[in-house]
Amino acid sequence: MKKLVLLLLAALLSAPQLRADKGMWLPSLIGSRIKDMKAKGFRLTAEDIYSVNEASLKDAVVLFNGGCTGELISDEGLLLTNHHCGYSAIQSHSSVEHDYLTHGFWAMNRQEELPNPKLYVSFLVRMDDVTDRVLKGVKDDLPVGKRDEKIRSNIDGVIAEATRGTRYKADVESFFYGNQYFLFVYENFTDVRLVGAPPSSVGKFGGDTDNWMWPRHTGDFSLFRIYADSENRPADYSPDNVPYRPRRSLAISTEGLKEGDFTFIYGFPGTTKQYILSDEVDYILNRSNPHKIGLRTMRLDIMGEEQAKSVATRIQYASKHAGVANAWKKWQGESKGLARLGTLENKREAERRFQQWADAHPAYADVLPQMHGLYAELAPYAFARDYYAEAYGAVELTRFASRLVRAGAGQREAMAREFYKDYSPVIDARIAKKTWGEYLRNVPQEFLPEAFAQAVAVAGGVDAAVEKLFAESRLTDSVRFAAWLSLDEASRQAALEADPAVAMAAAFDGVYLERIAGPYRDLNARIAALYRVYMRGLMEMEPDAVFYPDANLTLRVSYGRMEGYKPLDGVYYTPQTTLEGIMEKDNPDIYDYDIPQRLRDLYAGKDYGRWAVDGTVPVAFLATNHTTGGNSGSPVLNGRGELVGLNFDRTWESTMSDIEFDPAKCRNIAVDIRYVLFLIDKVGGAGYLLDEMRFAR
Ligand code: ARG
Ligand code: ASP
Repeated sequence: MKKLVLLLLAALLSAPQLRADKGMWLPSLIGSRIKDMKAKGFRLTAEDIYSVNEASLKDAVVLFNGGCTGELISDEGLLLTNHHCGYSAIQSHSSVEHDYLTHGFWAMNRQEELPNPKLYVSFLVRMDDVTDRVLKGVKDDLPVGKRDEKIRSNIDGVIAEATRGTRYKADVESFFYGNQYFLFVYENFTDVRLVGAPPSSVGKFGGDTDNWMWPRHTGDFSLFRIYADSENRPADYSPDNVPYRPRRSLAISTEGLKEGDFTFIYGFPGTTKQYILSDEVDYILNRSNPHKIGLRTMRLDIMGEEQAKSVATRIQYASKHAGVANAWKKWQGESKGLARLGTLENKREAERRFQQWADAHPAYADVLPQMHGLYAELAPYAFARDYYAEAYGAVELTRFASRLVRAGAGQREAMAREFYKDYSPVIDARIAKKTWGEYLRNVPQEFLPEAFAQAVAVAGGVDAAVEKLFAESRLTDSVRFAAWLSLDEASRQAALEADPAVAMAAAFDGVYLERIAGPYRDLNARIAALYRVYMRGLMEMEPDAVFYPDANLTLRVSYGRMEGYKPLDGVYYTPQTTLEGIMEKDNPDIYDYDIPQRLRDLYAGKDYGRWAVDGTVPVAFLATNHTTGGNSGSPVLNGRGELVGLNFDRTWESTMSDIEFDPAKCRNIAVDIRYVLFLIDKVGGAGYLLDEMRFAR
């Protein structure tokens, strides 16, 4: 009898409905999920997550610099985010004498914390459902353009009212394709100082080789501090500012998680597309991804070859290479995942079911056929747009040329210094030959810039045209640029206007703006209007189903549990890595795996202090939380809302989760908070920072 109960229990625990961790929930509506969360191990209340009047966990989470997430870990404004989110700030303070990227940086007191003029963080003050106000006076029969105009003006009114007489910023975002609208009121802080960062050999350990992969051993974190004026209000940098006192900061748990333990993530996921039609999946899977991956492979090969030839070039192109490689690798994982899940067929099947239902519900009968028609019209523009971005846009010289033309005369010298510091015309010309060649070969005649076609014809081929352009342009290197800069004002302007790189940029930009961007935008607006109807239909068709809104860089909660997965038949990935794995990968001859000597010494002496767990140090872990780009830096919390890790990535088999989430395989990757603390304390020698943190017991 007991055995039977156990068996039933086991079956229940592995039942699919209990495994479904997908979803990124709006904090103000989390009440609807609390029962499920509690059943899985959540120990707090909905008000602990989000409350307008009381301090709640939301007050400890920020949108970091408009694209990542960060969290407050002390009552003195100390903020934790990823190394790759703080990267440009760390880089901006680095020089040959102070190479913080290579050696890391630790402020040893408040005076040593480094200000970052362009960096800001945003706190969510409150969010409100404003659907009725946004849709007021918006009749169903308005043409798309008029409808969008009316909505825009309603939104402007809502924002003006929400911010009037305050220092707040506000946005209204659409949910479920315009079926629902929420107002988000933010408070932005602009004095955010760098407190600490590990060396890149820790913060980027594994580099592009390990990126999007498990097992993972990256110490992907950095520390900042928010400063405010004497009244605790946002203020631009001033030496008189004082550490910000947040309404709420996170307590840290050093107990860690065990496989199966509940965990949730609070953060700002950027974009997901769970409800797109098969047409769009088809386009991504069979057209866009293969072409974009192919174009980036060419770029990466060329960069890699040239980087291998010289140390200077390797450093110059390190960040560019990483940027190009990140999406390149993700798209490959995404395509594989979509194919494995059969997402295209699943969507087609779902659309057949919808159509059957819609045939009996006249308001919806035409939606899908109309959308399929518009998608067919959209495809050539989408394709040309992809090539504009990924083939034309792959070339640095022409993009620099068009920025230079648009910039004020006073800014140009500084722009040039910035540009040439990390620029190789050899790499750039090689890339131009390849990717512009692909543009010529693959993009239909009507989207081919005439000046480009002509240059190719005159020179007798793309390669020769590119060589001629790079030979003749005055912008190809800093020496020529200096010569141009020394001309008198009038000749300088004339030379710029006549420059072949400027002309080529204008030709591509012109075609894009005149023939691609407009139709692309208009068709998409018509498709979006139909998505609204389709989405409403889906909800009407399945009134009991639970729908969650796509990510749109607004604050969300995802929940799940620590768990490994099976990437392949016969392979199981356990969900925790340790320092042992770092030592296994350590190799002074491989750039991505060359750890700091200090770490080797600590390992040799087993000198882990209070951070030792079972004779080693925990490093990273997997969980089933639904995340996407933007969730980087998000706090990973245990059932009591205590910080146990810092989110920074997903696994290779997860990358299609922006389109279809697979509970069996999708995992987020977090750096274990105990590794972060070990690094601050033992490697950085900045253990004094721990004094202001709050540890749960
Ligand atoms: N894949 C992670 C994300 O999408 C980390 C990227 C940074 N690391 C890198 N090697 N490029 O942001
Ligand atoms: N690495 C991503 C980020 O920077 C997170 C992800 O895509 O899973 O936001």
